[in-house]
This record gives sequence, structure tokens and C-alpha cells, in this order.
Amino acid sequence: MSNPLLLSGDAAAAALLDRAQSELASLLVKPHLHVVRLGDDPASVSYTRMKARRAKKIGLESTLTELPSDTSEAALLELIAALNADPLTHGILVQLPFPKESAVREAVVLEAIHPDKDVDGLHVVNVGRLWSGREGLRPCTPAGIISMLDFYGIDLARKSVVIVNRSQLVGKPLAALCLERNATVTIAHSRTADLEAVTRAADVLVTAVGRVGFITPEMVKPGGVVIDVSVNRIVVDGADRLVGDCASGVFDVAGAITPVPGGVGPMTVSHLLYNTVLAAKRQLERSQSTSSD
Ligand code: GUN
Repeated sequence: MSNPLLLSGDAAAAALLDRAQSELASLLVKPHLHVVRLGDDPASVSYTRMKARRAKKIGLESTLTELPSDTSEAALLELIAALNADPLTHGILVQLPFPKESAVREAVVLEAIHPDKDVDGLHVVNVGRLWSGREGLRPCTPAGIISMLDFYGIDLARKSVVIVNRSQLVGKPLAALCLERNATVTIAHSRTADLEAVTRAADVLVTAVGRVGFITPEMVKPGGVVIDVSVNRIVVDGADRLVGDCASGVFDVAGAITPVPGGVGPMTVSHLLYNTVLAAKRQLERSQSTSSD
């Protein structure tokens, strides 16, 4: 097999940001994204700072609130209530996961965010909107993957999509979005029988397992599309390197594949910014229609 097509997240993210910026140009108010993080896990520190920085770079307002890892649930809920009530805050993102020692419950916090400011698309109301095909904010990584497939003209209709991940953040919402595109979807997981046979049947294989080398060449359909969501940190010759789930041999089998880094990662951040612009637009439209009632 010749070299696979590399699905560049940078190119596809630039197209998505163009869409966000043309929406932005029509707004009278600068959308404001508020990112909240508990604790100082290095990966979370780097992701949250990047989200706030990229927002500013495309012309949004952004604030990053960095709280100590022993912040109480009540204090966090108080902050979220204030942000919900603030008409100049349009998007709220609380970075997950919380530090191991934290007693704050993820579900309680996610449900406290107003659904229309939930730029992560993780509130149960947005989950319900997604599964019932209604307008709402869609989770950033799955929506980013769909934008990337669109950018490269990869049509999902009648295709078999296998997703190795069943989380609320990736697997489940991505399955809903692929169904909307008329794919036949399988969610595989750690207890799937004969995983290799299941993944090998996939026209589009999405992996978000978090294990280096988990996807071997035998697990991939020759010529198939592989979307590697994982970012695993490894040390090579004393230096840190980021790699996905795919063993290097997968590049000899796949027809198209996302690199790590530079694949899905940039799409997730861009979709967050896109969601912030969308959330602001809808909030401004709603406040105009209620003020003219
Ligand atoms: N941690 C890793 N990815 C995400 C994400 O998309 N949203 C939030 N809130 N936390 C994350």
C-alpha cells in the first residue's frame, strides 16, 4: 500500500475557524469564553491555557480561572451560578478530569452549567438535544472529527464506522453524529468479543483508547480511514513525544489517517471556539427577541 493520505487537523481546523470568524463578524458583542480548571495536572494546565489563548487569537474574549485542587463543590457551583447569570459570559468550560483528590462530582458540575452556555456540549440537555436531532451545542471532539471528515470529502453514508471508545466525551456523541450522517455505527470497548474482526470491518475506524500500539495493522481494513483521537506521552531517547493508539505499521495499511499530534487535537480546540461563537449568537438573538416582546 502506498503512503496514506494524512488528515491534517491544522488545515481542517483553519477552515472551521474561517466559519467561526465569518459568524463573529456579524455579532455586535465579543463572545466571551470562561475556562475553569481545578488543580495543576500538567496536561490540563497546557490544554486550558491553549484554549484561552486560542480564543483571544481569533478575536474572542477569554478568561481562565485556575482554582486549587481542594476547591469545594459549593465554591465551584457558586462561580458557575455567577457565570450563568452574567450576560457578558457566553461560554463556560470546566476542564475534566478533576484532580484525583478532589471531592467535586463531575456530573453535578456539568449539570450546573446553563445548557445554552455549555460549549462542551456535555450537559444532559445537550446530550438529549443531540440524540433527538434538535439544535444544540455538540461536544467538541466528536463534532471536530465530523468537520474534519467533511473537509476531506469523506462521506459517511452507508459506511461502517467502528468507534473504540464508549465515553460521554467521545464515543457516545460521535456515534450519534455518525448516525445523523447515515453511517452504520458500532461502539466497541474493552469487553467486545473478537475486537480485531470488528475493527477490521470498519470503513472508518475511530480509536480513543489511550494505549500506545493498541491498534495494530491487522485490526485495520486495507485502504480504510483511521481517526486516532488519543494523545499518549512517551519518552524516546530522553525526550517527550506524543503518539496516538496506532502502531506505526498501521500507516502501511490505512488509506487515510490522522497524525498525532496535528490530527484530531486542533479540531477539538477549534470546535470549542466555534461553539462559543454559536452560543453567543443564539444568546444575543434570544435577548433581542425577548427585549422586543
Ligand atoms: N478534558 C479532555 N477533553 C476535554 C473536553 O473536551 N472538555 C473538557 N471539559 N475537559 C476535557
